[in-house]
Amino acid sequence: ARKVIYDTDPGVDDAMALYYALAHPGIDVVGITTTFGNVTVEQAATNGLYLTEIAGRKIPVTLGVKTPWLKAPGTPPDFIHGGDGLGNLPSRVATTSVLDPRPSAQFIVDMARAHPGEITLVAVGPLGNLATALKLEPKLPQLLQEVIIMGGTVAEPGNVSPVAEANIWNDPHSADFVFTAGWKLTMVGLDVTHQLIVPLALFKKVADHHKHVATDTLHHAVSFYADFYSGIYPHVAKIHGCFGHDVLAFVALTNPELFEIQTGRIRVATEGPANGQTMMRRKDIFYPQPGWGDEVPDTHACLQLKADEALQLIESTLMS
Ligand code: BDR
Ligand code: CA
Repeated sequence: ARKVIYDTDPGVDDAMALYYALAHPGIDVVGITTTFGNVTVEQAATNGLYLTEIAGRKIPVTLGVKTPWLKAPGTPPDFIHGGDGLGNLPSRVATTSVLDPRPSAQFIVDMARAHPGEITLVAVGPLGNLATALKLEPKLPQLLQEVIIMGGTVAEPGNVSPVAEANIWNDPHSADFVFTAGWKLTMVGLDVTHQLIVPLALFKKVADHHKHVATDTLHHAVSFYADFYSGIYPHVAKIHGCFGHDVLAFVALTNPELFEIQTGRIRVATEGPANGQTMMRRKDIFYPQPGWGDEVPDTHACLQLKADEALQLIESTLMS
């Protein structure tokens, strides 16, 4: 199985992605590094600990960056993921696990040095922990096997502005630093995550099947998230579901054949009306764009998804 550090801001779809990863035989989650984003970093860490413990797993969980690198901090909205990040759970069972004392960035660096070339980083929140880890260890791109990011968008409209996706918009300077650092990097953005609508009924089926606190928690959380998305997008309301965003970063790891992936250079706008926009100079489009992006290495972006197959894979993995 691939060793993965999961950098996350749970978050409903983050929780969905975590349970996909824990259930998948091809993935070995060796650490969970948390960041601010959908909730404060303290709440994200609390949720990371809670979700792993109720799933019966012992995995180190760390506290990461509290705020963006240079952008002014904001307050996480409570109407997307709930004030607690998990759809306002009515109660929580008692748990005992505690955080690993290291900051998220230090944990990433320590793990990468201890297992050179073996760790994949799946990052599904704002990218401050990766940026901080890069500052601590500039050789990180050579020490990690691969980085997969849920964030950004190439051609699909943004979700926090006409051009920006939330994770990138939340910390655009860290994102630009990460996109230009020279690792094997794949972006799983709204281009593909907006192609995957996961019905709430799937989570009911999974909960009914396992009859377990972990899958009940996920079902509750997704019902809140599905209400939010159904209120915004009429085509999502028809299915009464939600976008699967973060889970697709893991699907890109386990089943890259379900994606059309293009190569090119990605930069992030860090100011003005396009703040947080990810811009890609695609290698497959032969149109001269002199000088643009010449200074940065190639990365990859997922642009199309076999959505039906991805949905079946998510269902069968969560049912297993
Ligand atoms: C991303 O933003 C967060 O709200 C989700 O968890 C996901 O990572 C989607 O834009
Ligand atoms: Ca997320």
